Amino acid sequence: METENQYFMHGGDYNPDQWFAYPDILKKDLSYMQQAHINTVTLGVFSWHALEPEEGKYQFEWLDEVFDQIHGIGGRVILATPSGGRPQWLSQKYPEVNRTNNLGQKHTHGFRHNHCFSSPIYREKVRLINQKLAERYGDHPALAMWHISNEFSGECFCSYCQENWRQWLKNKYGDLATLNHAWWMSFWGNTYSDWSQVLPPSPLGEHKVHGMDLDWKRFVTDMTIDFYLHECAPLREKTPNIPITTNFMAEGHATQDFIPLEGIDYGKFARYVDIVSWDSYPDWHNHFESLASTAMKSGYVHDQYWSLKKQPFLVMECTPSYVNWHQFNKAKKPGMHMLSAMQQIAHGSDSTLYFQWRQSRGNSEKFHGAVVSHDGSTQNRVFKEVAAYGARLEKIKEIKGTTRKKEVAILFDWESNWALNRGGGYGRPTRRYQQTLQEHYRYFWEQDIAVDILTPDQDFSEYKIVLAPMLYMMRQTTMEKLKRYVANGGILVSSYFAGMVNENDLLYLGGLPEPLRELFGIDVLELETLLEDEHNEIKYQGKSFQTKDYSAIIDAQSARVLGAYQCDFYSGSPAITENQYGEGVAYYHAARTNGDFLQSFYSQLAKKLNLRKEAIAEANPAVSIQGRISAQRSYYFVMNFSEVDQAVSMLKRVVDLETNQSVENTVLLAPYEVRIFYVENEQQ
Ligand code: GAL
Repeated sequence: METENQYFMHGGDYNPDQWFAYPDILKKDLSYMQQAHINTVTLGVFSWHALEPEEGKYQFEWLDEVFDQIHGIGGRVILATPSGGRPQWLSQKYPEVNRTNNLGQKHTHGFRHNHCFSSPIYREKVRLINQKLAERYGDHPALAMWHISNEFSGECFCSYCQENWRQWLKNKYGDLATLNHAWWMSFWGNTYSDWSQVLPPSPLGEHKVHGMDLDWKRFVTDMTIDFYLHECAPLREKTPNIPITTNFMAEGHATQDFIPLEGIDYGKFARYVDIVSWDSYPDWHNHFESLASTAMKSGYVHDQYWSLKKQPFLVMECTPSYVNWHQFNKAKKPGMHMLSAMQQIAHGSDSTLYFQWRQSRGNSEKFHGAVVSHDGSTQNRVFKEVAAYGARLEKIKEIKGTTRKKEVAILFDWESNWALNRGGGYGRPTRRYQQTLQEHYRYFWEQDIAVDILTPDQDFSEYKIVLAPMLYMMRQTTMEKLKRYVANGGILVSSYFAGMVNENDLLYLGGLPEPLRELFGIDVLELETLLEDEHNEIKYQGKSFQTKDYSAIIDAQSARVLGAYQCDFYSGSPAITENQYGEGVAYYHAARTNGDFLQSFYSQLAKKLNLRKEAIAEANPAVSIQGRISAQRSYYFVMNFSEVDQAVSMLKRVVDLETNQSVENTVLLAPYEVRIFYVENEQQ
């Protein structure tokens, strides 16, 4: 399903119900929105209290008015279902709707995102309010999209959920003998003899069974999707042509990381949404990395959300200035909003939507940035930058809906990540699966070579190169798929940790599984853990490179050894190998390397494979170029992620989309500047 509007969505969460007591302030919103070039608002995310103040007593008049007003200024509405925050009366009258934690304690009302996914009463109440919303606004000309709940996450351990858990396991395993085997319950002698003994993981009881934890996470994903589908049902019935989304998240901020959320299998969830959307809050201007590094991580997460459906996604939330939940909440410096928001579009977003339109006067997010700040002024820096960005989006609207071209794929699997992190053993703090994938991605981002990040069950047969480092949990079907890919001419790169366990987190016996042994031409003998400050070294093409964290000790069989370890008891044994398999080649990185090695390794492959760069200019690691493409034109976003001027030398003649001027030779980009160029496709 496509949104009909032909412009990029620019706007965000609009919460008039916070301001009912301030009619003078509300009156200003519409004209302010026009000044800020806002064309889309998300309504109702936390409005249940104002829509159904008493059980069964609905109050839609205020929302009718807002809908009409937004329509009146030519805007569109993303209407949220309100299940992310329920009214007090609901929890008070039906305490079962509140979550139960893994100690069996029932939550009281408060906060948000904390309902039970199984509670029949909650499901019924949500169905009713969603149905009312669909009936009331389904035909409203301003309705653009449904936004289901808000940032689904978390889990519940109540008796309903426990019953669903047991049923889920029965459907999966059929009988207890199969379950006992899959979870290896004979270890510590905890085999189940009756289904009623099977409880969810809890620190008060079973919490060390890896297979159980993995299944619990799968169950939580399935329950979340089930709840989401339950929410969608009345909307689909009344409004089959209105697309549905729910906002996904990223995480890691407190640890200086920025990675897609790990707790829910978004690869699976994405199959059920019409358009992927996510809430993007990178930690710009931090003190631990360069701006380009933050941009690389942010680009990675955008690329992952693009890849879930390989189609334009939406940035459902971001901040025009600062957030309130970092340790130190820095405002975006002048120009940074333009740059960071254009980066969203460059990576395939068809929107920039903010949390939130107007800064709250009180409560927990009152110091979070918004388009309209506490000063209520359209003359402050943030407002003006938002308005300038909105005006610019209008000028480049022909890019909306365009696609992207990629020849490189990285494989990431949520389930494998859960299993790997839960594993114990080896180096606990150094697992860092997603962060390691980002280190591989970095080379391509710096070279302006576009990358998709796919789950192993997506089709990767058309990519020139597939990177699957650390793919710890591998199904037989994935191994066969990888073999077919390489046999048909593909280039595969994998590493230590790959292919260790099956889908139940049971180790493959007898060394590296046969299909992988054939594919990589090696066997893995041991996996050695390095301490935090410990290193090994590999010799590769006459140069030494430091390694860290992990060293697989391998035996090269049919593989050619490209690099060998230089230290420790496995000195001289193979560290980097290459194996011709069918028409293609499979590389194995036994050691965890640093960026210098990855750069040297991938630059040769990129050359050999003649990988498509968004190369209207010579690569400069502080300048990112990302492309989008329509039937007629190729667009290039050239973005300076640094605090100094950057000279970018063009390799071909391009046209500036906004000025229509031809550009050749060198362009000087000011700090944070972004320029958008195009070439007609036939000229390529
Ligand atoms: C999001 C959430 C918003 C708001 C925002 C603040 O995670 O969906 O409601 O809390 O964070 O950054």
